[in-house]
Amino acid sequence: MWLGAPLLCHAVPRLPCLVGKTLPRPVGKTLPCLVGKGTMCKAILRIGTLDGARGERRVIPVLTSSRLDLISHSAGQTRRLGERLGRLLQAGDVICLEGDLGTGKTCLTKGIGCGLGVTSAITSPTFIIVNEYSLPGEAHKLYHIDLYRVRTAAEARALGLEDYFYGDGVCVIEWAERILEILPDERLWITLYHLDDTKRELELEALGERYEGLLQRFRQETLSL
Ligand SMILES: Nc1ncnc2c1ncn2[C@@H]1O[C@H](COP(=O)(O)OP(=O)(O)OP(=O)(O)O)[C@@H](O)[C@H]1O
Ligand SMILES: [Mg+2]
Repeated sequence: MWLGAPLLCHAVPRLPCLVGKTLPRPVGKTLPCLVGKGTMCKAILRIGTLDGARGERRVIPVLTSSRLDLISHSAGQTRRLGERLGRLLQAGDVICLEGDLGTGKTCLTKGIGCGLGVTSAITSPTFIIVNEYSLPGEAHKLYHIDLYRVRTAAEARALGLEDYFYGDGVCVIEWAERILEILPDERLWITLYHLDDTKRELELEALGERYEGLLQRFRQETLSL
């Protein structure tokens, strides 16, 4: 199927994912979107080239209903993205954050907390693994789990963390990649990359129907796609 430019934005989320076809890393088609007043955020449409049967070059967007890439240009913007996501979360949701030191996991979590209605300050004290926050008008809580000091799934299991992942709260887990074995199969996975001092890439991947729907709503509300 010929998918050449110009791209129709509304069609993109329904296109098949062609990851694994040796597509080069994004070659820079961007869509502007508003994330908070006066700030811009760009969605990367992963566009690569692939030789067709007759050798012609084809442009293929690699973006599906279960994936979304965003560029944040400031800590404030990452926070606002988190806030938008937080507004969509419900009891039992599990949000996994992966990314090197200082990529913005806590910053995003602060935004998520804000979107959920948390009024107290969200922090990551050095020796505390789980912070819990009450949510106004809700029976469930937000659990901010920071696994910086937990190295393995076995350690996490010994600490009883599984109870949180399969409970009624909303869990946001920093360094989630360390405990893959004990995480629910269905979850929203967000990988953050440091691009420069103020720029971060956020790669969102939905695993399971609930999270595909969540990502779809987040995409609609953030990018109007
Ligand atoms: N676009 C951005 N998004 C998020 N943070 C940013 C951005 N630009 C700069 N920053 C800065 O990067 C730092 C991110 O810190 P944060 O504690 O959120 O990272 P982290 O991934 O949780 O780190 P750690 O692994 O130590 O827990 C903050 O100082 C923040 O101001
Ligand atoms: Mg952190």
